[in-house]
Amino acid sequence: MQSLSTRHLLGIKNLQSSDIQLILETAKEFKEVINRPIKKVPSLRDITIANVFFENSTRTRLSFELAEKRLSADVVNFSSASSSVKKGETLLDTVNNILSMKVDMVVMRHSSPGAPDFLSKHIDANIVNAGDGTHEHPTQALLDAYSMQEKVGDLTGKKVAIIGDILHSRVALSNIYCLQKLGAEVMVCGPSTLIPKHLSSLGVKVGHNVKEALAWCDIANVLRIQLERQQIKYFPSLREYSLYFGINKAMLDELDKEIVLMHPGPINRGVELSSDAADSSQSIILNQVENGVAVRMAVLYLLAQKN
Ligand code: CP
Repeated sequence: MQSLSTRHLLGIKNLQSSDIQLILETAKEFKEVINRPIKKVPSLRDITIANVFFENSTRTRLSFELAEKRLSADVVNFSSASSSVKKGETLLDTVNNILSMKVDMVVMRHSSPGAPDFLSKHIDANIVNAGDGTHEHPTQALLDAYSMQEKVGDLTGKKVAIIGDILHSRVALSNIYCLQKLGAEVMVCGPSTLIPKHLSSLGVKVGHNVKEALAWCDIANVLRIQLERQQIKYFPSLREYSLYFGINKAMLDELDKEIVLMHPGPINRGVELSSDAADSSQSIILNQVENGVAVRMAVLYLLAQKN
């Protein structure tokens, strides 16, 4: 049996292409499982997983929890908002206390880039990064790649435009690494204030005209404006952002081809995407959410083999 080259999933940057291929192939088998009348397999029956979330989440937390339960793991959920973190406990103390209860894997979301990497060096459990600040969100990139492949097949030579708030997006960076390892061409598009200057050194095209980006790409992955991470104004107003960078159905209809529309969620409807675009037949946004469970099952299953 093939296995991953790592016992943690901290990001896509250091993942080998063969690891990505293995996760995506394994996810196909789990997608078949979650579409059966009985959606459960005993694969992780002896494993206990803690979902440790120091930041808000709807999709990722629920998706991991469902993936874990579909694999028959025991699951505990931790949310910093209702925990002793509020009394001043450190990250390491919090996680070591959770591990004392015999936990095998930790799925963690944290606002600080590098927090999952830090944990992986100090504790003896498999760590899965469920989003670390503006750094990486590896399972989102994997489920995005899976959803793209499901829709358009092999990604070699496919053109993917990532449009929106690139500066604050962990999804953008993980998607860039993942898509390049799968042979796709990547463009980032947004206001120049929301595109980090170092990005062109990663070999991506950089654009500032959303109509040109849509005309160039086969797939548009539209990102949320992350107001919660913006301490200064990067554009004059949401109305102006929407006017210059928002995507609506009329813009999709003007193209001489049918592109695929994606968004990792949560959507700011009427800002980066209009409802008629988000809910159109070109949108695979809810397929991304469905595929997230199968992809996370694959990640957890493969990491558990590395213990
Ligand atoms: N896509 C994503 O990470 O969504 P949540 O913040 O709701 O988990």
